Amino acid sequence: MDNRKIQIAPSIICADWGRLEEHLRLLEELGVDRVHCDVMDGRFVPNITFGPEIQGQLHSMTNIPLETHLMIEEPDRHIEAFIKAGSRLISVHAEGQKHLDRTLRLIASSGAIPAVAINPATPLANIEHVLEIVGLVLVMTVNPGFAGQELVPYTLGKIEKLRAMITARGLRIDIEADGNVSFEHIPQMIRAGANVLVVGTSSLYRQGQSLADRHAKLLRLIEHGAEMQ
Ligand code: DX5
Ligand code: ZN
Repeated sequence: MDNRKIQIAPSIICADWGRLEEHLRLLEELGVDRVHCDVMDGRFVPNITFGPEIQGQLHSMTNIPLETHLMIEEPDRHIEAFIKAGSRLISVHAEGQKHLDRTLRLIASSGAIPAVAINPATPLANIEHVLEIVGLVLVMTVNPGFAGQELVPYTLGKIEKLRAMITARGLRIDIEADGNVSFEHIPQMIRAGANVLVVGTSSLYRQGQSLADRHAKLLRLIEHGAEMQ
């Protein structure tokens, strides 16, 4: 099994934006590896979140690397702007444009890590030809667009198959689970081969307890999960 460090990526749309600067400082103190920015345009997914200007303000508040998950139509138009707004890694959906290979190469040539995202019902076959040019595959484990949704169970099998595909090709690609990454689901997701976990209202931002306590619980789960691999 790929023994890459298992990382967490807080889904920042789940945070209290009224106290964002303070929250980002706390995430830095907790040693969080990256912050997950969910960008939604109201067309590719029903919800709308924010654009590069808002992400740029978020970027000015923290040194934590930002990864941007573009749940938008025709993402090509916005790659440069998001990189200027601090995106270290950009995930585009295989379902979101006509020329996936070209878009991924544009992200790489623009200076960010290219990543491909797939919705639950999208087969792995749709991304097998671009595995050599991405640094990460984001597997949506819920139907995209909103926090607080239920896991789509068959997506765990997709993570497992994808990890086997990556291993068989001798590639070193991160697999990110995004959606309902709950305390209950994390052990299965790690066992399946996910090594980056987008944590939202199902775990890090779950009601009750302090953020630090929930973060500590996540680290314990990850440590235990990594041993089981
Ligand atoms: C869903 C988003 C997820 C979500 C995670 O489209 O991409 O990142 O915010 O939050 P929970 O844990 O509530 O699913
Ligand atoms: Zn996301």
